[in-house]
Amino acid sequence: MKPVLLIGAGGVGSVVAHKCAMLPEVFGPITLASRTLSKCEAIAAQVKQRTGCELATAQVDADDVSQTAALIRSSGAKLLINVALPYQDLTLMDACLEAGCDYLDTANYEPKDVAKFEYGWQWAYQDRFAQAGLCAVLGSGFDPGVTNVFTAWALKHQFDEIHTLDIIDVNGGNHGKAFATNFNPEINIREVTAPCRHFEAGAFVESAAMSCHQGFTCPDGVGSYEIYRMYHEELESLVKHIPTLRRAQFWMSFSPNYLKHLEVLQNVGMTRIDPVMYQGREIVPLQFLKAVLPDPGELGQSTKGKTCIGNVITGRKDGQPKAVYIYNICDHEACFAEVGSQAISYTTGVPAMLGAKQILEGGWRQPGVWNIEQLDPDAFMADLHVHGLPWQCRELTPAQAASFQVA
Ligand SMILES: NC(=O)c1ccc[n+]([C@@H]2O[C@H](COP(=O)([O-])OP(=O)(O)OC[C@H]3O[C@@H](n4cnc5c(N)ncnc54)[C@H](OP(=O)(O)O)[C@@H]3O)[C@@H](O)[C@H]2O)c1
Repeated sequence: MKPVLLIGAGGVGSVVAHKCAMLPEVFGPITLASRTLSKCEAIAAQVKQRTGCELATAQVDADDVSQTAALIRSSGAKLLINVALPYQDLTLMDACLEAGCDYLDTANYEPKDVAKFEYGWQWAYQDRFAQAGLCAVLGSGFDPGVTNVFTAWALKHQFDEIHTLDIIDVNGGNHGKAFATNFNPEINIREVTAPCRHFEAGAFVESAAMSCHQGFTCPDGVGSYEIYRMYHEELESLVKHIPTLRRAQFWMSFSPNYLKHLEVLQNVGMTRIDPVMYQGREIVPLQFLKAVLPDPGELGQSTKGKTCIGNVITGRKDGQPKAVYIYNICDHEACFAEVGSQAISYTTGVPAMLGAKQILEGGWRQPGVWNIEQLDPDAFMADLHVHGLPWQCRELTPAQAASFQVA
């Protein structure tokens, strides 16, 4: 018996619930809890229909430590999988410490009132988790998550030393809406409007958001897209844990249509996160915008196309320069057919399930707080092939790597 508690009943939570339910030999009993009970019940009904597995459901305010600790105890959970929002990371880690439970998440902590995310707040829990004999695994989605494991696997099997890392995240999907975000709109828009930071020559360098971009052609006919350099949280942990890195950058594709809408929304103040008065009460414009945008969890039905997320890595092997591209391609419609979700939720939810599997099976279970690149990559890499996210590793020439020619 490996009782688990999933917290968050959004797009990612639904995928994690389905994928855990498909592995009863690893996970169970499973409790799905979130702020809105009806969303948990709707997911539980779909899971029952697709897999035959019964989930328990519960209402919980994950900002409330003692309430969450009580739920951990009553559910008997040995592991809490946090797929709520980054705002809840610290209270959920506190609840795990209080109730004696392991922890896993997919995004690092971010305070609600400042658009700033960094690992420092969660790394500060290292001693408390270690002393309690509990394990916390941070960032087990796709990016962060699989991209960190790709890097750790490359370092273990392909390189003696890694010098540059470029993570390239392309969503070639089309949802047919005028404007929508792939995951929680509030978190997504805070992320893409933040100033860009990349790592170069031993330090992070800041530049204006979306100011650096270039064309990128994906392999296997996924298509050509414009990719924009932006800051992403895994850069912080990867440059810490792989000190030979001389440069680390993150790139994401955006369509001209997405950027046009985002620019207008920014210009009119709809992406602000400070409260404004409206009809006698305070509202936060970005939270209001979230309420009127399409729910990312509902986009699966209409989204067609593929995602292509991978790492271009250069370094040295046996004294020679070497470069590789490691990537996964995921089809939105295939994800919808399997679990009723689009590929962004799927590519996050499957690695969350796989990270949880590694903890429960013991491979990754060690006391302390860990970024996923610090853990052995091999079993996780093998599981990606089995559970819906197959990957490939291509060798590149140094010239191809320098210009991102991977197709
Ligand atoms: N690493 C990656 O590759 C990656 C990629 C995409 C997303 N993510 C992360 O995945 C997480 C989930 O994303 P998503 O798109 O599934 O978001 P979502 O659809 O907005 O779902 C979030 C869920 O958390 C619940 N929640 C929020 N505050 C809560 C609270 N105080 N107590 C209890 N439940 C609460 C929400 O409840 P309500 O339904 O009541 O609002 C909702 O069910 C986010 O942290 C996101 O940053 C990671």
